[in-house]
Amino acid sequence: IFATVQRAPRDPILGLTEQFVADQREHKVNLGVGVYQDASGKVPVLECVRAADADLSAGGKPYGYLPIDGLAAYDNAVADLVFDDSVERDRVAVVQSLGGTGALKVIADFLHQTRPDAGVLISAPSWENHRAIFTRAGFEVAEYPYYDADRRGVDVDAMVAALQSAEPGTVVVLHACCHNPTGYDLSPADWERVLAVVVERDLFPILDMAYQGFATSLEADGAAVRAFAAAGINGAVTTSFSKTFSLYGERVGALSVVCADADEAGRVLSQLKIIVRTTYSNPPTHGAAIVAAVLTDPAQRAGWESELGGMRDRIKQMRTALVDGLTAAGATGWEHITAQNGMFSYSGLTAEQMIALREEHAVYGLDSGRLCVAALNPTNLDRVITAIAAVSN
Ligand code: LMR
Repeated sequence: IFATVQRAPRDPILGLTEQFVADQREHKVNLGVGVYQDASGKVPVLECVRAADADLSAGGKPYGYLPIDGLAAYDNAVADLVFDDSVERDRVAVVQSLGGTGALKVIADFLHQTRPDAGVLISAPSWENHRAIFTRAGFEVAEYPYYDADRRGVDVDAMVAALQSAEPGTVVVLHACCHNPTGYDLSPADWERVLAVVVERDLFPILDMAYQGFATSLEADGAAVRAFAAAGINGAVTTSFSKTFSLYGERVGALSVVCADADEAGRVLSQLKIIVRTTYSNPPTHGAAIVAAVLTDPAQRAGWESELGGMRDRIKQMRTALVDGLTAAGATGWEHITAQNGMFSYSGLTAEQMIALREEHAVYGLDSGRLCVAALNPTNLDRVITAIAAVSN
């Protein structure tokens, strides 16, 4: 019965990891998937996570089912972190999700159920899975202009113009900070313009926030989300703690939907719970318990902020070292790498150059030219510099 099933293409990001794992070359470097590694090339276990994990284990609590919408303490802690006092808590429907992807899937299904004819706009370019998730949920997905390759930055005029001509009710997926894949973010003044057009055209914003704290600080990186919430509009925020807590495999995320009032939030939550129940029943316990414990303990939370700052600073150092190294190797025009935020760098390398990097030098990045600079370290840096210089000269 599966005789006619076609082989699907590999996933553009996780499929590359599969290829990387199969590569026998010892000096291989994976700058494909967005995973932060420390200076020794390891995915870190944060101290705050280690401590919370030890407390939880010592407590010996059984692993019963969580409620459909997740651990209440976690959902409340997420709402506090994401919104602070920009919106009343009872106006926000929050569900714990399977990472940021799970949150996107739940909101995509919910929006398709409630507004099947709405269009969905994602940035050009965007994270590959954005288009896939919303298409699979049944939407037509189109793009709004974002990256300006000539000026190496965001073409905010073109972005705002596209949003201006979108139909009311259009769903617009925005990157709250650390734009994936380019690394170029909107400035505070740009965000004001985007918010104004969202309000004016009655668009439905989804702010995807997978990297809060990786650009400047928790506070600054969450400013756009808080401004949208404070504007009193409906919208959604998808949160991931994969990167910020280095809890990738625990799949800890959340979906927050900002509603008109508490009654609407209750009704929306009841529908989100049906989607969760019929998709994966209820979320896993452990990762969310760790995040809730850290976020609700002032000392632990301060420790987390400091560890997050350490990851952020190390990425910035690697960006500078990469530019310095490339310049010393005679490759010019790489300063844009230090103007970008977060884990990723749109390097400007072509698909052919990225393939050559992979095939000839065992340095893996996406064909779009995206490199995960958060996986650079003092040991692999020289190899990467030599490889990039070789393919770009
Ligand atoms: C990435 O963009 O590499 C990360 O967000 C991981 C993923 O799931 O694609």
